[in-house]
Amino acid sequence: MKGLRRKKKKTRKIGKGDKKTLKQKEKERNRAWWIVGVFLYAFLLLPLIYSCKGSGEIKTLWGKGIVLGLVLFLSLAFLYRYRKDSFPQPSHLSLFTLIVVFIYYLAWGSLKFFHHYFFLPLPLLGMVLTPFFGSGVSFVAVILVSFLISLINGLSWASFTYALIGGSVATIGVSFTHRRMEVLRVGFVVGIFSALYLSAFGLIEGYKEKLWLIPSWGFLNGILWSMVTFGILPLLENISGMVTDAKLLELSDINHPLLQRLRKEAPGTFQSSLMVGILAESAAQAVGANPLLARVGAYYHDIGKLKNPQFYGENLSFFPRFRNIHDRVNPNLSALILTSHVKEGIHLGKKYKLPQAVLDIIAQHHGTTLTSFFYEKAKEIKGKEEVREEDFRYPGPKPMSKEAAIVMLADAVEAASRTLENPTTSRIRNLVERIINEKIQDGQLYDAPLSLKEIDLIKESFIRTLSSIFHTRVEYPQKNQGEKSDKGNS
Ligand SMILES: [Fe+2]
Ligand SMILES: [Fe+2]
Repeated sequence: MKGLRRKKKKTRKIGKGDKKTLKQKEKERNRAWWIVGVFLYAFLLLPLIYSCKGSGEIKTLWGKGIVLGLVLFLSLAFLYRYRKDSFPQPSHLSLFTLIVVFIYYLAWGSLKFFHHYFFLPLPLLGMVLTPFFGSGVSFVAVILVSFLISLINGLSWASFTYALIGGSVATIGVSFTHRRMEVLRVGFVVGIFSALYLSAFGLIEGYKEKLWLIPSWGFLNGILWSMVTFGILPLLENISGMVTDAKLLELSDINHPLLQRLRKEAPGTFQSSLMVGILAESAAQAVGANPLLARVGAYYHDIGKLKNPQFYGENLSFFPRFRNIHDRVNPNLSALILTSHVKEGIHLGKKYKLPQAVLDIIAQHHGTTLTSFFYEKAKEIKGKEEVREEDFRYPGPKPMSKEAAIVMLADAVEAASRTLENPTTSRIRNLVERIINEKIQDGQLYDAPLSLKEIDLIKESFIRTLSSIFHTRVEYPQKNQGEKSDKGNS
């Protein structure tokens, strides 16, 4: 009893904390944008002040300061208005700021050291920002830094265009890549573009040096920064805890040690996670969320079940001795074991160094859902007054991202679909609609950034995917029967 009371207190605390955290987070996020603005202004201004040093013109400095303020304000306003989703946490803004400032200073150093603009590191800016924040954010940063470089470099139109071309080609190129190695190929393409630009510019301006020498520096510049990117991307991933497509692709490999453990130790959970992955990926595609993150999140969402796989419905057929385990156990204990797989999952995920985005999906995939079967059972045994609903709810938090919400819904739909007899399209539709409506009515999607239209698109996607899967099963009745008898036990 003492233990139960302790658990109740903990659940309440978590519930209250979530709401507070959400409001606080929103405020913190807005404050972070202002702090970033001031920080960026101060650090981007320093090289401009330095570049005015010799001229002695205070008016020039004022002018550059105002121009910087205008361009920076516009850039941040654009990002805040159109790309706010790329910075879900203040730490993302910090990483963005650090990358921009570091590469800007590197560019300034390169100008001072080489006395020309051929080795500007703008390709590095595009190649590093795009995997973390997307091509839109990267473009804004490339334009901003290219402009500031030209401001330092005596309003040089040539350096602005050169920087812009290198950064833009890198941004576009990397947005097409999914594997880390491919960044080297992008470096090659950036090199060719830079060399072509410098050749063309040489023809216009008439370089004193041999015509082939300067373009080859441009080519080397592309190759050099792609090699640097290849080296530092994993480092930035580890430091920031942010995830790139390359990392997600690595994690989506079924041979990952954690997934292999799941396959061997909890085969039912493994199969169901793959299925949730298929449902979540296409639903994420339908609403413009990250399909790869949704799939990977689904693959790992139940890894916490590795601790006691025999307690979960989908694994019971693999553990015949435990077939009636929940009949022999107190419903409070059953609920406690079931709900603990979320905490266990986070613990295991951290041990295997899963990125924060995947850990968040693990933490949020049940929200504060009620384990209704055991709740009802406990009420039957002990009486309504003696049973507290909070003791039978998952600890939360509720899903806070599109991907986490999609995995929650896909998980619930997949579990329910296992018991579906004669799965016609209309039965599938009824099931999907019932499950999603239950989640909405229970307030589980309260914190998820999904519109009603998007929920509808997710629903339709689930119906389409399930219908196509069941259609295939109907065509192979023998396999169908085998699978059904397995899953019917869960
Ligand atoms: Fe789960
Ligand atoms: Fe699950």
